[in-house]
Amino acid sequence: MRLHVTDHPLIAHKLTVLRDKDTPSPVFRQLVEELVTLLAYEATREVRVQDVEIETPVAATIGTELAKPRPIVVPILRAGLGMLEGMTRLLPTAEVGFLGMIRDEVTLEAATYANRLPDSLAGRQCFVLDPMLATGGTLVMAIEYLLERGAHDVTAICLLAAPEGLHHLAESVGHRAEVKIVTAAVDEKLNEQGYIVPGLGDAGDRLYGVVD
Ligand code: URA
Repeated sequence: MRLHVTDHPLIAHKLTVLRDKDTPSPVFRQLVEELVTLLAYEATREVRVQDVEIETPVAATIGTELAKPRPIVVPILRAGLGMLEGMTRLLPTAEVGFLGMIRDEVTLEAATYANRLPDSLAGRQCFVLDPMLATGGTLVMAIEYLLERGAHDVTAICLLAAPEGLHHLAESVGHRAEVKIVTAAVDEKLNEQGYIVPGLGDAGDRLYGVVD
């Protein structure tokens, strides 16, 4: 498994505003999109491309286009949805799948409740969007799901990661495929409730409000 922690002053600045508990939801949503676009720039560095012949107004030339099959972007519902716009802004021709996963707040175990993905992911680069890599339970389950469908190349884009989650991921799926994590920061630890410390709180609630 490869880990890429971005090092850019704009990313650090946006992340700081996201962490601030007084940042209101609309600003939070906007910043998540902007931050994801910056993370996506790093995450797509190795996206597969092919040559394409085009004509400029002046001459014929060989350019570059995304190779087929096109990459697929998979936001993990609910909070990953807040990252989709920022990702597709950079990769507008990617296909989009969905994975609905929920974490039991007591056991911290993840379970799948919905999915919309092609039957085969063979040969496709998969970009999973999950804002908070905390225990890693959700992401491990999501990546296992993609591997079962034939994926070999999975990049997870996370706003924040905890060392515990990274360790869990490396142990569980890190050796089974080409797995890369791109994140804005690796925080200190998880607290007893499984929240990342210092983190930014519950990403889903901060994006969309608390659902009772
Ligand atoms: N999920 C979140 O939304 N925040 C955390 O800190 C951990 C998991």
